[in-house]
Amino acid sequence: MSEPAVTGSGAPGPVQRLRRLFGLPNDDPRKTVAVALALCLVCSLVVSVAAVGLRPLQQLNESLALKREILKVAGLYVSGQDVEQAFGRLDARLVDLDSGRFVDDRDAGSYDMRRAAADPATSVALSGPQDIAGIRRRAEIMPVYLLREQGELQKLILPVYGYGLWSTMYGLLALEADGRTVVDISFYDQLETAGLGGEVANPSWQATWRGKRVVTDDGAPRFRVVKGGVDTASPDAVYQVDGLSGATLTSNGVTNLVRFWVGDLGYGPFLSRVRQGLGEGT
Ligand SMILES: Cc1cc2nc3c(=O)[nH]c(=O)nc-3n(C[C@H](O)[C@H](O)[C@H](O)COP(=O)(O)O)c2cc1C
Repeated sequence: MSEPAVTGSGAPGPVQRLRRLFGLPNDDPRKTVAVALALCLVCSLVVSVAAVGLRPLQQLNESLALKREILKVAGLYVSGQDVEQAFGRLDARLVDLDSGRFVDDRDAGSYDMRRAAADPATSVALSGPQDIAGIRRRAEIMPVYLLREQGELQKLILPVYGYGLWSTMYGLLALEADGRTVVDISFYDQLETAGLGGEVANPSWQATWRGKRVVTDDGAPRFRVVKGGVDTASPDAVYQVDGLSGATLTSNGVTNLVRFWVGDLGYGPFLSRVRQGLGEGT
């Protein structure tokens, strides 16, 4: 009668298997694959931990960068200054775009307009002819930043955005208290081609916007980026800036986004209240 087979303590555990695998000679293909996989695992862990751990710092830096841009178009930026402190000079408010009235039951500081625009619960869909800025949805509520001196409104800064040729261009349009005249413009986030559409971020071009008007006396959007250049003799010259050479499609995108945001579906109702003297409260 034959002896039963000796099985020991059973199949090797995972640790034993790993030991065996890494104990193989270096030129064994199984070890090469195992080392490569282990390296990938360790690297992906390091990257994931860094991405999650550094996210709050990244968000803080993004928020500071945006505040710096807002200060720049408001004419309040001084290099090296404490951005948070300087930003305190501005009154950050939320505006219900349909009514043009302030929304005071939410914190403007933590409001995320991009998230609001992406969420169907907090945004409205724009149909073809309405969507001249190419943004598909528009948040119901948008932030605005007001600069006052001795209680008198001096400037207002409106976040604006729209599609160019390759990308959504995010900008800040600073207007005088008349709600019509440009103080400054900044396109702080866009991915148009450097040297062509990317010239929207060129400070020299942006400087040509100063003193231009975006709407007529009765509030109709009239601004245009003109291909070839502005005819200074034209009565419309005050509503126009020179087009970017070789970048007519981006230039058209800028025209459309400005017209959209200063129009009825954008800040139009709010700007109309600004022109009437902006009674406070909602
Ligand atoms: C590689 C490449 C990148 C381009 N990038 C842009 C751009 O960022 N914005 C733009 O309006 N046109 C861009 N163009 C040019 C457009 O295709 C188009 O020709 C141009 O907008 C027409 O402008 P123009 O009438 O002023 O020449 C690019 C073309 C090429 C080949």
